[in-house]
This record gives sequence, structure tokens and C-alpha cells, in this order.
Amino acid sequence: MRTRLSVNVNKIATLRNARGGNIPNLIQVVKDCERFGAEGITVHPRPDGRHIRYQDVIDLKDVVTTEFNIEGYPSDSFLDLVMQVKPDQVTLVPDAPDALTSNNGWDTVTHLDYLAGIIKMLKKEGIRTSLFVNPEVKIIEGARMTGTDRIELYTENYAKLYPQNKQQAIMPYMIAARVAETQGLGVNAGHDLSLENLRYFSQNIPELFEVSIGHALISDALYLGLEKTIQSYLALLR
Ligand code: PXP
Repeated sequence: MRTRLSVNVNKIATLRNARGGNIPNLIQVVKDCERFGAEGITVHPRPDGRHIRYQDVIDLKDVVTTEFNIEGYPSDSFLDLVMQVKPDQVTLVPDAPDALTSNNGWDTVTHLDYLAGIIKMLKKEGIRTSLFVNPEVKIIEGARMTGTDRIELYTENYAKLYPQNKQQAIMPYMIAARVAETQGLGVNAGHDLSLENLRYFSQNIPELFEVSIGHALISDALYLGLEKTIQSYLALLR
């Protein structure tokens, strides 16, 4: 199985919003990401609209031709949005409205009933669901009980430890992915994955369906250009 690359375009919207106009043009960038080989597009709208706005998500509905993945905290307004847009996948993330970026995974044990209710509603609409989680066995087992299709492993700790000790960094993720697979859950991953650390991650997690990458990829594109950057990430997954 080959891992798919979903490009998170939040940073494109952040750059656009810094000036209030339409440069860079998010719609065009999304079309170009797909033309350059991206196999999915990820957006993470937050309530303050500081990067991707709700209107962007609506506008992208008919633009994305690959897999459209919308991430976010399941507030009422977020759920209304995704029920309207009906993307291929919704990734639920437990981030507070003012979080700089996602900074933790779900406690699937404590919030089992809450998550199960939302997941049931999304799946009824034909939307695949994924839960952002830390690589912990009891959390993965809890995820299975919610009825979710997939989990997204939160890879910040892997990325942090990778430069010092990559074997130690990968170990919890290898165990978590194996447990997820045996429980019938698909495995995605994301956060702080980069040209430096992606190959080792994907080589050691054969269960990996999809990675979503934003910050490092858009930063690399400043030096390499978007096309070469996307090609470089794809090459690491092959
Ligand atoms: N997955 C989730 C749930 C996220 O919130 C983010 C960041 O928006 C990512 C993946 C991608 O992380 P990065 O921008 O560090 O590649």
C-alpha cells in the first residue's frame, strides 16, 4: 500500500489574510497542488478565521478533485459546515478555539459517547471520519469504540525526538499503528512531518494510509517551488 500525500493549505490562507487581498490565490494554489501531484487537500478552519475561512471551505468544495479532508473541532458551526460541504473525510481535532495549532489528541475514553454521536451523524452522510489521537493503545482502543473509520496519529512528538533518537521516536507510533490495524481502523498521520523525517516514518509504518502536511511543506516551497516540493514529498512515500 502506498501512503497518500494530502497537502494542508492553511498557510496559504494565512499569507493571503496578512494583506487582506487575494494574493496568493488559494483556489489557484489548490488546483496547482493537485496538478503537481497532491493526492488530497486538507483544510483546518478555526472559529476566528485567521487562516482558512468557512467561505474558503465552501468555495473549495467544487475545486478539489482529489480527496478533500476537513479538520477541526466539532463545534456546531463546524458541523454545519461539513454537513453542507460533505467532504471525503472529516478529521475531528480537540483543539481549543484559541490554540495556535493542534496540540493534543482526543481522550477517546472520556469522550466516547460524545464522539460516537458525532461520528454516527457524519457517517450517515457518507463522510469518512478520522480522530486525531496520541499514539497510546488505550486511546486507539477507545477510538474503535466510537465507530470512527480512521485515526490520525499526532506526530509532533515523533518529529521532536527524531533528530536525537529516531528508533525511540518511532516506537510508540509503530505499536499504535499495529493496534489500530488489528482493530480495523485506517491510519493517517500528521503534524510536523517534513522532508527530514517523513521517509523514516512511512518506512516503519506500513499501515499508513495518508499523511497531511502543511507547515514544513509550504516553507520548503519558498526554496524549492511548490511543484518540486510536492514531488520531493511524494518521492519519500514511494
Ligand atoms: N493534522 C492536524 C490535525 C493539524 O491540526 C495539522 C496542522 O494544522 C496538521 C495535521 C499538519 O501539521 P503541519 O502543518 O505541522 O504539517
